[in-house]
Amino acid sequence: MIHPDCKQAIIDRARIDEVLGDFMSLKKAGVNYKGCCPFHNEKTPSFVVSPAKGIYKCFGCGKAGNAVGFVMEHEKMSFTDALKYIAKKYNIAVVETHLSDEEKQHFDLRESLQVVNSFANEYFANNLHNTADGKAIALSYFKERGFTEETIKQFQLGYCLEQKDAFTQAALAAGYKLEYLEKTGLTITADYGNVDRFRGRVMFPIHSLSGAVIGFGGRIVGANPDKKFAKYLNSPESEIYNKSKTLYGIYFARTEIAKQDQCILVEGYTDVISMHQAGVRNVVASSGTSLTVEQIRLIQKFTNNVLVVYDGDMAGIKAALRGINIILEQGMNVSVLLLPDGDDPDSFARKHSADELHNYIKTHKTDFITFKTQLFAGETQNDPIERAKLINDVVRTISLIPDPVTQMVYVEECSKILKISQDVLLKQLQKITQTAILQTHNRPQQQTPTPEQIAEITEQNDTMGIISTEKELLRLLIVYGDKTVDLPILPQPIHVHEYLHKEIIDGGMCLQQDVFPAMFREYFEHNLQQHDASQYFNNHHNQQCAAWSIDFVKKSMDMTLSGIWKKRQSAYETEEQKLSTVVWDTIATYKRKRLEDEYKALANQLKNPLSPEELLHITAELAKKKKTIQNITKELKHVV
Ligand code: UTP
Ligand code: MN
Repeated sequence: MIHPDCKQAIIDRARIDEVLGDFMSLKKAGVNYKGCCPFHNEKTPSFVVSPAKGIYKCFGCGKAGNAVGFVMEHEKMSFTDALKYIAKKYNIAVVETHLSDEEKQHFDLRESLQVVNSFANEYFANNLHNTADGKAIALSYFKERGFTEETIKQFQLGYCLEQKDAFTQAALAAGYKLEYLEKTGLTITADYGNVDRFRGRVMFPIHSLSGAVIGFGGRIVGANPDKKFAKYLNSPESEIYNKSKTLYGIYFARTEIAKQDQCILVEGYTDVISMHQAGVRNVVASSGTSLTVEQIRLIQKFTNNVLVVYDGDMAGIKAALRGINIILEQGMNVSVLLLPDGDDPDSFARKHSADELHNYIKTHKTDFITFKTQLFAGETQNDPIERAKLINDVVRTISLIPDPVTQMVYVEECSKILKISQDVLLKQLQKITQTAILQTHNRPQQQTPTPEQIAEITEQNDTMGIISTEKELLRLLIVYGDKTVDLPILPQPIHVHEYLHKEIIDGGMCLQQDVFPAMFREYFEHNLQQHDASQYFNNHHNQQCAAWSIDFVKKSMDMTLSGIWKKRQSAYETEEQKLSTVVWDTIATYKRKRLEDEYKALANQLKNPLSPEELLHITAELAKKKKTIQNITKELKHVV
């Protein structure tokens, strides 16, 4: 922890224009400074810095803050790290308090490892540019691969000489302890002496988010390396290098990822470098490990949108499929770009100009449902079993998405692409979710649910179904009551409030759950179709009513603004435009649910001792109800 006095000293010393000036270009404008906002894309500057007030504010995106806040936001640093950064800039010694001995040792160890890596990094780069072997073997290899001088410098590429311990010798001579050389993995100690781990390999330093070298990848030189040796060797895990938490290239890509609000994910070191060189700079690589949740979280600091670009071969496709699930599970948006078979992002980027590359990405990236569909298109066209498998697979993936609204959007999307009714998809989704819930609850004792458990869950789910449908009815009434809908069963358009009145109240039904019946009644008693019903309920003295109403309004806005609907403007932009279907669908669903309840209650009577007349009567009633339920189900299917 930084000492409070020291904290204040750092904050006092920081001049906002000087701190921000390291990250962006600022021009003097009167007493203030102006620049293009680094937090959103803009061409005319609307970002103003006031040295007098010590703050910045962007009039474009609304972001504002002080110098420390800027560093935190821009560099995704913690408060302490931002302070330390500024302290370093102004040569202020940071006074720490309350560091236990153990913490201090750990801190020192990390520091030492970092220093060793940094020395190694410079040493390897020097080999590449200034030794005969480096130039002849390594530099020429990089050049052959198409890397420019500038790229090689930017990514700090290097070369570890063939000689068995050249690096270790040099490091020891420069005063670095063998202990640290070993802990970073740069040196392997053995009975027969010390050996450089990366001897004879070209070096790719791996940077942390803030640019420290935390590890290396070393590649065998040559196009078709000997199968006896691993093509790439990587630093082992250490106090500073944890490969599942690291993304190669994040240091170079972070600003661009935030700016473009998208992160492109590739597999390898060279993929990142070639894409960069081709002008696509929001790229990072998982580097050989299969994608981890921690790596996704790292991306999430900068954007919620990931584009997965993997090789077109089987291994690449498998990795992409696995990646898609993990990304969706973290609540992020994913799209996929499949390259022609035989190409990886590196080779593809080298074959095309920057424009072509951008264009290809734009025209070929697809959502994951289309991706999966295309993948199985050949097999599924004529084979119903394969088709069912694909649908199941897609629904399974949708079930991983944490946000139910997004789930629904994808169900709709899937229904369109795979030409299957939403009803069927929703049922399947529900089934998968239920099984998943049962499995997490019962994992210790048993894997498969007993019939009783399934019945219980179904029961619970059914009441949930009624609640959510009543909620939906009320939402439609409050938000869209004064709108008209055009329904297939009616000769002319009708107001939503009229139709709901006709179906529910005139139909002898009454909402049953929560405060819904009261709200429903109040709407008609107060003639709210003539007023702003949502405003009325948003400010209702009963907090529960107000809370529901606000929830309804929010949901309606979400539905309308939700990304996918915005994107597919050609289909239908707003919920309002497909209101007829929504209203019709909700009423039919509600009627069906109520009928099903009645059916169940009636069926329960069969358990009692009954006279033959009663039995006859009940079975006849049951048959009638069943018929009506089937009819409504058919109508529902028809609409979807
Ligand atoms: P690839 O085999 O696709 O290599 O592995 P690449 O990136 O195309 O490399 P070049 O073009 O042949 O040089 C993808 C990534 O998997 C990791 C590396 O991070 C590599 O960039 N990998 C691969 C290893 O860690 N070890 C290996 O032996 C191979
Ligand atoms: Mn490659």
